[in-house]
Amino acid sequence: MSESLIIGTNASKQEKYETLHPQIEALISYEQNLTANLANVSAALHEVFGWWWVGFYIVESDELVLGPFQGPIACTRIRFGRGVCGTAWKEAKSKLVPDVERFPGHIACSSASVSEIVVPIIDKNGKVLAVLDVDSERFDVLDETDVHYLEKLAAMVAEKF
Ligand code: SME
Repeated sequence: MSESLIIGTNASKQEKYETLHPQIEALISYEQNLTANLANVSAALHEVFGWWWVGFYIVESDELVLGPFQGPIACTRIRFGRGVCGTAWKEAKSKLVPDVERFPGHIACSSASVSEIVVPIIDKNGKVLAVLDVDSERFDVLDETDVHYLEKLAAMVAEKF
């Protein structure tokens, strides 16, 4: 696997995801170390989409603990059911939050972040292992297309735990 991503700069969001998916699959296929894989997935998503913050929180007993990410420093621990991340964990369901001010209990790790998507990473038995969190400093960037493709990515990543 080459160590650079090949993505058309003028490609649509959908095309970017379609091109990125097999490249991430290849990138993580030869490596078994979880930290290495989550670090590269965060970096690949950040490089292609340029989001404010993208990364993982990993389930550790009754909390989510900050994992590999790209972006500014962030909260290290989130309790079950708290914030967007804890809610996605509790409900085992993706959360698309177009305006974080309208999400009761949103945890503001950074005041620059105004919209967010959190996708749970779920194993074959339905257990949430981690969440993938994407934050944007813009209101018009994250939508259902991202949720769709990030869920596909989450299913791929679940197999590496
Ligand atoms: N906003 C998240 C917390 C994580 S940071 O955004 C990186 C939440 O409400 O769960």
